[in-house]
Amino acid sequence: MSDIIIREARVEDAAALAQIERECFSDPWSLDSLLTSLASPLYYTRAAEADGRIEAYLIASLVLGEGELLRIAVRPGNRARGIGRALADAMIRDNPGITPWRLDVRESNYAARKLYEAIGFKPVIRRRGFYEKPREDGIMMMLEG
Ligand SMILES: CC(C)(COP(=O)(O)OP(=O)(O)OC[C@H]1O[C@@H](n2cnc3c(N)ncnc32)[C@H](O)[C@@H]1OP(=O)(O)O)[C@@H](O)C(=O)NCCC(=O)NCCS
Repeated sequence: MSDIIIREARVEDAAALAQIERECFSDPWSLDSLLTSLASPLYYTRAAEADGRIEAYLIASLVLGEGELLRIAVRPGNRARGIGRALADAMIRDNPGITPWRLDVRESNYAARKLYEAIGFKPVIRRRGFYEKPREDGIMMMLEG
């Protein structure tokens, strides 16, 4: 794989992101949800591209000075190469005034929890039955700036 370029994710990228959603999540976001977030100034959206193909992306909301990491996904063939970390680091670096950051993660999602802990997120609340398909507890994590 050639070098990864991180750039803004735009409305034109919605179909590519929807494809990755289907590859990575049991409860993928719809094309409409992706289009809404990609079109809104209240969202921070980034795509990681190699050879003109999107390999990963991140979507966060930025509202009233607080941030929420809503979606991060790396195509299965490109995991464990630092791409998820690069996207999350860019999110923090590009939004210096935002605090706190928060997110929800499935309890069983070990890779994602490790990534978030590596960046400095700490678990704060267990949310019983927060997820469907399959039903599972969520862990809310926060990062104070
Ligand atoms: C979670 C996800 C985004 C991580 O992306 P990635 O590019 O594979 O992660 P990175 O290579 O950047 O790894 C960064 C850090 O995360 C942790 N990590 C990532 N994958 C891991 C794994 N399988 N096991 C343990 N730790 C892992 C490590 O701390 C790693 O740092 P290190 O390599 O220095 O040890 C990716 O696994 C993914 O897309 N999963 C499916 C979608 C998903 O679950 N998204 C999150 C929803 S909350």
